[in-house]
Amino acid sequence: MHRILVTGGAGFIGSNFVHHLVRQTDHHVTVLDKMTYAASREAIDELPADRVELVVGDIAEAETVNPLVARADAVVHFAAESHNDNSLHDPSPFIRTNLIGTFTILEAVRQHGTRLHHVSTDEVYGDLDLADPKRFTEDTPYNPSSPYSASKAGSDHLVRAWVRSFGLRATVSNCSNNYGPWQHIEKFIPRQITNVLDGIRPRVYGDGLNVRDWIHADDHSSAVLRILEQGEIGETYLIGADGEKNNLEVVRLILKLMGRPEDAYDQVSDRAGHDRRYAIESGKLRHELGWTPQFQDFEQGLAEVIEWYRSREDWWRPHKDATEQKYAAKGQ
Ligand code: NAD
Ligand code: TYD
Repeated sequence: MHRILVTGGAGFIGSNFVHHLVRQTDHHVTVLDKMTYAASREAIDELPADRVELVVGDIAEAETVNPLVARADAVVHFAAESHNDNSLHDPSPFIRTNLIGTFTILEAVRQHGTRLHHVSTDEVYGDLDLADPKRFTEDTPYNPSSPYSASKAGSDHLVRAWVRSFGLRATVSNCSNNYGPWQHIEKFIPRQITNVLDGIRPRVYGDGLNVRDWIHADDHSSAVLRILEQGEIGETYLIGADGEKNNLEVVRLILKLMGRPEDAYDQVSDRAGHDRRYAIESGKLRHELGWTPQFQDFEQGLAEVIEWYRSREDWWRPHKDATEQKYAAKGQ
């Protein structure tokens, strides 16, 4: 492989993956990104111009996608509308980007015979009970809860169908919740860090006992590259780092690391259809492809991310008021 097309490569995880490719390989990277509110040119603009090129365009437009796929050796597909709360307010961009966009990518890679890796989420499996020790595996039945997770589930099904019906050379990964630098401040961890920096109390939905299985974005990137290079065509791999924490634990840790009393948060109205628990069993990826996560200490990883948001106020400040106004309108 020499030329990799990365869709959504200016977003939180896509940009992390582009950095990973530049560090770990000698591939040339073309980023195709629509530069929505969630994208950040700054996240990739310091990378060498002879290694990384940005094309601003929409994955749902075949005339944009086709020529880029034609000159790529592989496509890694991150582009998506990615925030559950937004999908509850207006599902339409989720249907267009996550379903029509993925369909457009699939038709292009089918036409050109190109290797594809499709990036997805563990949320396609729905949720687990708090009392149930089970974790998601590659065999867990799909049961998505929100417009976001249903659109991602639909995109996964499209990829699987194109593999089976058309012999597409594709792999799929479903990863748990990511944290790291460059994550939009609408998401849980950066919202609470920037709230504390602004003297606002963190906002926890409902009883705060919902569990997420946190993984550092660097570990997600290394897993995706491993699957791209060594994954078996047609297979799905779950990506997770044994990072289960409930939301109260995370907020208390943020407050502690930022020198505030650990109970200085507010509980606000719950998210509609709020999934209770996600948890990943990632043995297939670890045993078959020999992958292991590097970030084993969540507290240390979180402390580094807090420092990153402290030092990059120039990046998030322009979005803070509008983001908080959207939440305030919903009493959250
Ligand atoms: P993000 O919202 O930060 O970034 C998405 C990127 O896609 C943005 O740069 C945006 O401009 C781009 N994009 C959106 N619509 C587009 C379109 N029509 N055409 C081209 N580009 C478009 O999302 P993220 O958190 O980086 O997630 C990336 C991928 O990883 C998504 O597929 C998501 O489902 C998956 N994922 C995310 C998480 C997580 O915790 N954030 C966990 C597992 C899987
Ligand atoms: P989020 O970052 O939106 O990720 P996802 O919905 O994909 O899991 O939310 C993570 C968890 O945090 C989820 O249980 C919802 C909760 N949450 C809050 O309690 N307060 C908030 O302000 C936000 C944005 C999320």
